[in-house]
Amino acid sequence: CGIIACVGSNDAVDTVLTGLKNLEYRGYDSAGLAIQNGTDLVVRKRAGKISDLTDGFVRELPQGISGIGHTRWSTHGPPTDANAHPHTSASGTVAVVHNGVISNYETLRSELEGHGYVFESDTDTEVIPHLVEHFLDNGLDSDAAFREAIDRLEGSYAIAMMIEGEDTVRAARQGSPLVVGLHDDAYYLASDVPAFLEFTDEVIYLEDGDVVTVDEGSLEITDLDGRPISREIDTVDWDPEETGKGGYDHYMLKEIESQPESLSNTIRGRIDPEAPAVHLEDFPPGCFQDVTEVHFVACGTSYHAALYGARLLEEANVRVRTSRASEFTGRIPDPEGTLVVPVTQSGETADTLGALRAAGEAGARTLAVTNVVGSTVAREADEVLYIRAGPEIGVAATKTFSSQVVTLALLVERLTQEIDGAAAREDLGAFLEALSVLPNQIEEVIRTSRAEALSSKYDGRDAYFFIGHALQHPVALEGALKFKEITYEHAEGFASGELKHGPLALVTPGTPIFALFDGKHDEKTHTNAKEAQARGAEIVAVTASERTAAFADDMLVIPDTHPDLSGLLANVQLQFVSYYTARSLGRPIDKPRNLAKSVTVE
Ligand code: G6P
Repeated sequence: CGIIACVGSNDAVDTVLTGLKNLEYRGYDSAGLAIQNGTDLVVRKRAGKISDLTDGFVRELPQGISGIGHTRWSTHGPPTDANAHPHTSASGTVAVVHNGVISNYETLRSELEGHGYVFESDTDTEVIPHLVEHFLDNGLDSDAAFREAIDRLEGSYAIAMMIEGEDTVRAARQGSPLVVGLHDDAYYLASDVPAFLEFTDEVIYLEDGDVVTVDEGSLEITDLDGRPISREIDTVDWDPEETGKGGYDHYMLKEIESQPESLSNTIRGRIDPEAPAVHLEDFPPGCFQDVTEVHFVACGTSYHAALYGARLLEEANVRVRTSRASEFTGRIPDPEGTLVVPVTQSGETADTLGALRAAGEAGARTLAVTNVVGSTVAREADEVLYIRAGPEIGVAATKTFSSQVVTLALLVERLTQEIDGAAAREDLGAFLEALSVLPNQIEEVIRTSRAEALSSKYDGRDAYFFIGHALQHPVALEGALKFKEITYEHAEGFASGELKHGPLALVTPGTPIFALFDGKHDEKTHTNAKEAQARGAEIVAVTASERTAAFADDMLVIPDTHPDLSGLLANVQLQFVSYYTARSLGRPIDKPRNLAKSVTVE
């Protein structure tokens, strides 16, 4: 879900709608806004896309000077008009937008129903406006009523609230992201910076427990008891142009094709193929020498990037584990020696944040690998290594996957140089040299890819499989995840050798199998692909070698590179395959159904 609020901008309707459009990738099954218009608090909301709201009935609203808006990704109750935010109190005096989960809402709801308050939605959020109204009814002023209500909430939240007749926006943060933007006399509040980036680049990252009161020309941050808190103002260096579509039909295509640039940013200043050496800012030589084991925690695409890093560590003889963050038990046998590495594009994924906190409680050292400066994971981990991919808007992660993999590969180099008993890479110079030309090679894939033609050839099959061995295995998993996310077709990724242990039963004549070859472990995948081909599968070999592909039905060519990097080139081909297949099926590529880019609930 995403929140936006503004105070003091004179065109609150337009500002909130702009913010909502910018936040669409956080959730988009319903949207709404509340605007203070003279003495009235006007609320408009509905199920459906944000464009339904912007193109439709809110245009007739008069501009106010303050407003709150919300785009929803359902957690409690289906996407309906009633369940859309803002939620209001029975009298309509209080309007609230909320991101997160109120875990004690059932208790609060029955308590409030006992007092006669009538609920209209299935959401946990609705308890908040009723609670505030309850305290107002009991004679508290607006500020006290808001604080009392917040005090009663358990769970996670970022909340913005307005009360009829007041231009003030009140907000609070606990466990869900909330950022303030400042520009002259105008203030913005949002779930993340791109929401208001075209208005300002001056931001304050709020912390858990912060309560914010924004009026025209004034901003006050306090704790729940009203004690003032001072927070630094940061300037973000993201270019608003960069967060736009820049002439592409979809963010996803723009982001796939910006990988030469984003990867260059990832490696800039970090590799020296001549020395050869890897320099990671904030990580001086020797800082990993006490590490004995590495434990990655991540979700979705980030999990696949983590698997890639883990395989590199395993090959270097380092003890390593990888957990899906939602399955992390919090058990760390040797907290002293274990480095826990949450990998997360957004830095806000609730499952990953939960795993990070559990690891911290267990006493392990934590090092976050993320894209978003100032994100919750970045702030809560002991250390942070940024992937520097720039803003990613398409729900399906593309450029951040390649930047994550490369960042992890660099981290792995540093770890293996310092961990006792690890087998550091002997061909480091060659590896870094290959890395330095990788952006150009991706450029070549973008220029020459035949994925579009190939996708139309394989249109309409029952299922699509992706196989790979060693480092190509996580890429096969990622290829299948991307494919299912945006095409809605059945796709699965497997370790090449696993096909014969079950999935082969699903192969029928014409089942496309994308087989990924790295030039080093080709034999295994070759044998396994042929086994499937003998049962009717059509094989698309993704490889640099015509000879390897000779048996295959089709080939997607990748440039020749270091075997440990070829997965990244193969992945770009697979990103195109997913994109063009989804496009010919007419899917809403940047916003696939039921998915959100940042899942800030568990
Ligand atoms: C969501 C997105 C996925 C993403 C995952 C992890 O489920 O739809 O594309 O990979 O979250 O996100 P993170 O921000 O932690 O990398």
